[in-house]
Amino acid sequence: MKKYYIKTFGCQMNVYDSHRIAAILQNLGLTEATSPQNADLVIFNTCHIREKAAEKVFSDLGRLNMIREERLAKGLDTVIGVVGCVVQAEDEQIAKRAPFVDFALGPLTYHRLPAVLAQISRRKGEPLIDTEFPAESKFDFLPANTSMGGCSFLAIQEGCNNFCTYCVVPYTRGIETSRPVEDVVKEARRLVEGGSLEINLLGQNVNSYHGEDAGGKERNLAYLLHKLDEIDGLERIRYTTSYPADVDDDLISCHREIKKLMPYLHLPVQSGSDSILKAMNRRHTSGQYLEIIGKLRDANPDLGFSSDFIVGFPGETDADFQATLDLVNKVKFIQAFSFKYSRRAGTPAALMPGQVEEKVKKERLEILQNLLFSYQLKFNKESVGKIMPVLFDNKGRHKGQLIGRTPYMQNLHAALGKECRNKIINVKITGATANSLTGIQEGT
Ligand code: SAH
Ligand code: SF4
Ligand code: F3S
Repeated sequence: MKKYYIKTFGCQMNVYDSHRIAAILQNLGLTEATSPQNADLVIFNTCHIREKAAEKVFSDLGRLNMIREERLAKGLDTVIGVVGCVVQAEDEQIAKRAPFVDFALGPLTYHRLPAVLAQISRRKGEPLIDTEFPAESKFDFLPANTSMGGCSFLAIQEGCNNFCTYCVVPYTRGIETSRPVEDVVKEARRLVEGGSLEINLLGQNVNSYHGEDAGGKERNLAYLLHKLDEIDGLERIRYTTSYPADVDDDLISCHREIKKLMPYLHLPVQSGSDSILKAMNRRHTSGQYLEIIGKLRDANPDLGFSSDFIVGFPGETDADFQATLDLVNKVKFIQAFSFKYSRRAGTPAALMPGQVEEKVKKERLEILQNLLFSYQLKFNKESVGKIMPVLFDNKGRHKGQLIGRTPYMQNLHAALGKECRNKIINVKITGATANSLTGIQEGT
C-alpha cells in the first residue's frame, strides 16, 4: 500500500480523528491520494448522529465498492476501512450491508490501525471489526499530533454522560473521559511550534472536562484554559461543544480574564420549551439557559452565541415550538445549526409517543431557520465598517484569495497573497451576506 484517502463525515471531533489517522498512515510510509480512484487504502470516518448522516455512509460505500472493482479490473487492489460512530453503533449492519469492507474500527480503537492493517493483508473474507471500548486511552498510542495549519483542533475530552433522549453519542463515543492536563498542554505547545495561532479544544461535552494534573488532582476546563493562556505564540483559544448546565462560575470568569479566549461560544440549547427540554433529559430549563447567557455577557459583553436546535421532538406542540422562537428572539444568536428530529434506534425518544409528522417538522424547521438567518444576517451586516483581526487559514476558490475567520467565527474572504496564509491580519469589513463577509487588509 502506498497511498491513502480519508473521507470525513460528521463533527469536528471526526475531523480531528481523521487528522490523527492520517498521521498513523504517514508513519507507516503512506502518502495522501487526491481521490479514492488512486488510493490503495480508503477510509471512511463516519457519523451516526442523524439517519441521513448514517445512510449516506452506506450509499457512499456502495459507490466506493464500484471504484474498487474498476481498480481491480486494472490489477490494482484497494483496502476499504470504516471508522467512527457508525461502526460503533452498526457493526453488524456493516458486515451485512457492506461485506466488502476490510476492516471497521470504532472511534476509540483507531490507534490499533497498524496492527489491523498488518492482519488484513494476510486475510480476506468478512470485515475485521473492533468496537471494543478499550481500557487503554488511544491518545497514549498515537503518533505526536501535528499542526493543522493556522488553526488546529485538540481533543481534550471524549464521550458523554448526559444521555439526552434523542442522542446516540453516549453509545458511540462511550462515557466521558478527559485527557490529563500535562498531555493537553504538551500537545498544544507542539501545535503552536508547528505554526498554529489558534487552538480549538474539542469534546462532546467539553466543559465537563476533569483531567488530572501532574499531582493527580482533577482540574476543570477553566484551569486548563488558564494553563493554555500561558503559551507564548498561542493567540486564540476556543472550546466546543459545551453543555449549558455545566457552565460554572470558573468558566464564566475565564471569559472576563483570558484575552485569548475568542468572543464566540457555541452553547446548544435544543429547544425553548421546558417540557420538551425535560423530555429530552436536558439538565436545564430555558430560564436557566438565559441566566447562563446573561452571566457570560456580564463577563464579556462582546460575546456572540451560537446554538443547536431540534424541531419536531416527540410531543412538540405549536406552543412548544413558539417557545423556541421566543428564546431565539431573546438571545439573538449570531450563528446556529438546526435539525429536524431524527428517530435513532436504541435511544429512548425513538419509542416516545407523539412522534411529529414529517410535514410539520419541515414547516417548523423552515420557520426557525428563517428567524435564525435574519439574526445572523443582521449581525454580519453590522460588522461592515469594523476592523477585525482575521486568521486566514484557508485558500479561497480563486487565485489571490484567502478565507479566514473573524473572532466571531464568521467566514471572511479577502484578496490576499499566499504569504498571508496562516497569519492574523487586521481587516476592514466591506461586505456581508448571511454566510460570509468580505474585507480588505487595513491600511491598503
Ligand atoms: N455534544 C454536542 C454535539 C452533539 S451532536 C452537544 O451536546 O451539543 C450535534 C447536534 O446534533 C446536537 O446538538 C443536536 O442538536 C443534534 N442532534 C443530536 N441527535 C439528534 C437527533 N436524533 N435528531 C436531530 N438532531 C440531533
Ligand atoms: Fe448528545 Fe446530549 Fe451528550 Fe450532546 S449532551 S452529546 S446532545 S447526549
Ligand atoms: Fe457524528 Fe459521532 Fe460526531 S455521531 S456528530 S461523528 S460524535
